[in-house]
Order: sequence, then C-alpha cells, then structure tokens
Amino acid sequence: MGSTQESLPIIWRHETSEAEYEQATVGRVFNMRRPTRRPLAVVHAANESHIVTAVKLAIQQKCRVAVRSGGHSWAAWSVREDSILIDLGNYHHIELDEANHTVCVSPSTTGKTLNGLLKEKGLMFAGGHCPDVGLGGFLLQGGMGWNCKNWGWACEQLFAIDAVNSQGELVHCNTTENSDLFWCARGAGPGFPAVVTKFYLHVRPAPTHMLSTVLFYPLSKYHEVMEWVIKTSKGYDKDTEIVSVAATPPAELGITQPCITPLFVTFKNSEEEAKAALKIANETRPAGALHELINHPTNLAEQYKNQAEANPENHRYCAENAYISNDADVPAVLERAFTTLPTSKAFSLWYAMYPCSRRQLPDMALSMATDHYFALYTVWEDASDDARCRKWVKDIMTDVERHSDGSYLGDSDFQIRRTKFWKSENGTRLMELRRKLDPTGLICGYLDEDDRSGTDGLPNQQEWRELHSSI
Ligand SMILES: Cc1cc2nc3c(=O)[nH]c(=O)nc-3n(C[C@H](O)[C@H](O)[C@H](O)COP(=O)(O)OP(=O)(O)OC[C@H]3O[C@@H](n4cnc5c(N)ncnc54)[C@H](O)[C@@H]3O)c2cc1C
Ligand SMILES: *[C@@H]1O[C@H](CO)[C@@H](O)[C@H](O)[C@H]1NC(C)=O
Ligand SMILES: *[C@@H]1O[C@H](CO)[C@@H](O)[C@H](O)[C@H]1NC(C)=O
Ligand SMILES: *[C@@H]1O[C@H](CO)[C@@H](O)[C@H](O)[C@H]1NC(C)=O
Ligand SMILES: *[C@@H]1O[C@H](CO)[C@@H](O)[C@H](O)[C@H]1NC(C)=O
Ligand SMILES: *[C@@H]1O[C@H](CO)[C@@H](O)[C@H](O)[C@H]1NC(C)=O
Repeated sequence: MGSTQESLPIIWRHETSEAEYEQATVGRVFNMRRPTRRPLAVVHAANESHIVTAVKLAIQQKCRVAVRSGGHSWAAWSVREDSILIDLGNYHHIELDEANHTVCVSPSTTGKTLNGLLKEKGLMFAGGHCPDVGLGGFLLQGGMGWNCKNWGWACEQLFAIDAVNSQGELVHCNTTENSDLFWCARGAGPGFPAVVTKFYLHVRPAPTHMLSTVLFYPLSKYHEVMEWVIKTSKGYDKDTEIVSVAATPPAELGITQPCITPLFVTFKNSEEEAKAALKIANETRPAGALHELINHPTNLAEQYKNQAEANPENHRYCAENAYISNDADVPAVLERAFTTLPTSKAFSLWYAMYPCSRRQLPDMALSMATDHYFALYTVWEDASDDARCRKWVKDIMTDVERHSDGSYLGDSDFQIRRTKFWKSENGTRLMELRRKLDPTGLICGYLDEDDRSGTDGLPNQQEWRELHSSI
C-alpha cells in the first residue's frame, strides 16, 4: 500500500478485537436496535484527504463505500456488509462568511453545534429539530428543519457541495458545475452517488423573540382538536411552525395519560409580533385542555432540549411516516396512530407542511410532499418488546398508506416498506443519474431487504398499497 494509505486512520475487521470493532461499527448509531451487518473496515476520517484516500482504497479493493455523518439514520444505513465505512465523526469544519450569510460545514456537524456558533453572530440555520442529527444525512434527504412549512426545505438553502465522486475525485458541485451531482444532493438521501465532504449553506438572521403555545388535551378530544389544528394551520402566520403530537406529557406536569398536544412555535423579532402571531391559536382553541402554556417564552436551546427528551439516547426505535393525501379525512386516517400508542415513550406526530407543500420547488430530486406530514416514533427500552412495537407500526402503516401519496426518506426504512419518495419524473431521473454517476455501485445506496438494490435504486412505487389492496 502507498504511503497515503499508511497514514489513513483505518481499522480492519480481521485485525481488530471484537469489542473495538463493535464500537467502531455501531457505537455512533443512535438507535439501540442495532444491525448485525459487518463492514470490512472503518475509516475514522479527520479531513478531506482521508475521505479521498478511503474512496480510492475501496475502488482498488473492489468493495463498497458506506458513509456515516451523525449516525442518526433510524435504520442504521451507514452499517453495511463488507463495505469500507467512512465515519466522518472526527472531521470537523465550520467556516462562516459573516458578510455573505453563508457557512461551509463538514457533514457530521450537528444542528445544535452550527446554531451555537451562528447565535453569537445573530444568525441561524433552520436545521433538524433534534440537536444531534448530522447535517449530512439530514440535508441529503431534503431536511425538515425549523418552520419548514413556511421557510421551506433545509436543502433549499444549500448552494454548493464538495464531494468525492465514484472515481475518487474531489469535485465542487453547484447549479452550473457538476450540476447532476448537485441535483441529486438535494433529495437523494442515502442513495446519493458520491461522498459529500462539505456543504455550503445560506443562513438567516436569527429571530430575536420566540414564543410557544402548547395545549394538552385528553385523547377523548382527539377529533375536535385535530380538526381545529389542521384548519387553523392553513394560512397561519408565516413564521410559526405548527405540529400536533400524541404523547404522554413530561412527568413534571403530573398528567399520566397520553394527550393530544398541538404546539405552535413562532420565530419573530419582537415580543409584540410574536404575541400577535399566537393570538389566533389562543382565541380559537377548543375548550377542555388539561394543561396550557400560552405565549411561553422559549428559544432554540429549550426547543432542542425538549426534542432530546422526547428522543432519548439508549432506546430502541421504529420510525415510520407518510404524506397523507390532501383530500383525505386526516383525523379519521390518523385516529388509530394517535390513540393507541404502544408505550409511554412512543409518540405520533402530524406536522403542518402547507404552504410549502403547494409551492413550486427548485429543480432538484426532492419533490414529494402533501399538506400533512405524519410520522410514528415508537420508542421502547427492551428487546423483548421489539415484536409487539414493530407489529403496531406495521398494522398502522398498512392502513394509513392507502390514504397517502408517499413518504419522506428521513423517517423511512426500505427494508420494511418501499413506497414513493419522489414525484415520478424526479424519481426516474434520480435513478438514471445514479447509474450514470456511479455505474458500478461503489456507494452502497438504498438499504433494502438483503441490501440488493445497488445501482437499480428504489422503484419509487407504493408497493405495499398494491400488496394489501385486496384487504
Ligand atoms: C432523534 C431524531 C430526530 C430527527 N429529527 C429530524 C428532523 O427534525 N427533521 C428531519 O428532516 N429529519 C429528522 N431526523 C431524521 C434524520 O434527518 C435522518 O435520520 C438522517 O439520515 C440523519 O443524518 P445523520 O447524518 O445523523 O445520519 P447517518 O446515519 O450518519 O447518515 C445516514 C445516511 O445518509 C448518507 N450520508 C450521510 N452523510 C453522507 C455524506 N457525507 N456523503 C454521502 N452520504 C451521506 C449515508 O447513506 C448514511 O448512511 C431525525 C432522526 C432522529 C434519530
Ligand atoms: C489529513 O490528516 C493527515 C494525518 O492523518 C495528514 O497527514 C494530512 O496532511 C491531512 N490532510 C489535510 C489536507 O489536512
Ligand atoms: C461576500 O461579501 C463581500 C463583502 O460584502 C463581497 O465583496 C463578496 O463579493 C461576497 N462574496 C460572495 C461569494 O458573494
Ligand atoms: C459554481 O462553482 C464554480 C466554481 O467555484 C463557480 O465559478 C461558479 O460561479 C459557481 N456557479 C454558481 C451558480 O454559483
Ligand atoms: C387566551 O385566551 C383566554 C380566553 O380563553 C384569555 O383569558 C387569555 O387572556 C388569553 N391569553 C392571552 C395571552 O392572550
Ligand atoms: C422535479 O420536480 C420539480 C417540482 O417539484 C419540477 O419542477 C422539476 O422539473 C422536476 N425535475 C425533474 C427532472 O423531474
């Protein structure tokens, strides 16, 4: 091996102790329901040249490349049989261009880290809701960041990337240079046919005043509350994110039953504006809440803390999701998902996407959305609960999928359910571009059952719906 490879921070399966290899393989995987798949080697890349060297090594060894940024893929897409896993956890780069409101970040940078830095300059990036999600996996999928319904997809703030392509070359990609790769980078998710080394993003002035209104209702009021929040969210204030969650409230509230909980978070530049934005929610809210927080002063740090508490570490997860069709009776379709949660830590979520869902998006892979994003986050502790929790999710989705247009990559698992993730023409183009840009399937791509999809990619069809249409 050449001298560059000698300095590569790589460990090989056959040369490493079980415990150390296990740690390198799955130690950074968020979901404790961890896979038994085994890469051939793990590269702890600390800079761009390590990434280039690792990709070249995989080409030479004729094995596949897997990538990990933040390790938060629910289905552990980074852990692939006989691959060289490039773990970007030790590669840190953040470069802010304050005058131009742009930032260049390494893929393992988290939303919380980036916003911690931006805050000092009065800036913000509407990244993922959970503090520790890596920007890498998040941006490639499109990214439902803060106030996505109004501010748009996180990847719409992406104006360029640097990536190591399937020939092992480091290339700059934007709308005019290597534009095919740049088109894929905004929505291909884990099927992106290269390894991103840097993301170039537009950031926005940070709102100075954030307020939230949170209303906890008993599940007996499910229909009334859901109908209200769905109706209210249409045409609501443009700096306000709206979500409705079924979950057991935090213990300190002393409510031990699961609740249906609408949540409005507004991002403004004065207290008056923020109060004005939340006024309609307070004025029109259904009566009968068990607990109410009206115009509660909040900030990004508190929102991150709440998200981290709802998604605790060292737990087992099964996430699923669907875009419910705009013409569906949404409260009826989601009733079972919201009222039969299988554990006290599980939660179901409806996330308002209107008006972003109706807007003409830039030409990019990401193209799927409806007004109603629905996701299940089933959370439990013990492996003995796996079968029960997973069956609950499967039963719900078998029914819900029939009322959906497709799904978001970010909360999906293609080993369990393959559906439509892009508009048909965008999906077709994406699969063609993947074959053109990575003809041998060097980069692992979409992890389907037995990890066979390779250069074929995903069929982008509602396969289950057809399978279960006779029921
Ligand atoms: C607790 C929690 C909260 C979440 N909240 C949100 C949310 O608010 N909004 C939202 O949109 N999503 C959310 N997600 C989903 C999340 O965006 C995805 O799981 C995403 O894949 C995580 O990115 P990562 O880099 O941490 O994951 P990883 O597991 O490191 O990466 C996932 C896959 O993306 C690809 N990839 C990652 N980096 C690169 C790269 N540099 N080059 C090429 N391919 C790469 C690889 O295929 C990799 O296997 C959440 C997930 C969790 C666990
Ligand atoms: C990357 O790190 C290695 C040490 O592992 C060092 O030899 C190399 O010069 C670094 N490359 C760059 C571009 O910083
Ligand atoms: C960045 O800002 C500076 C100063 O405002 C300007 O001169 C420069 O052209 C900008 N660069 C880019 C890439 O926009
Ligand atoms: C794309 O990148 C190249 C090289 O850096 C640059 O010359 C070009 O202006 C960029 N295109 C756009 C649209 O920014
Ligand atoms: C919210 O509405 C109630 C009436 O239902 C009213 O008493 C209260 O003052 C309102 N709160 C705010 C902050 O406007
Ligand atoms: C992808 O979808 C968008 C709309 O979301 C559309 O404008 C664009 O033309 C599509 N591109 C391709 C190549 O299919």
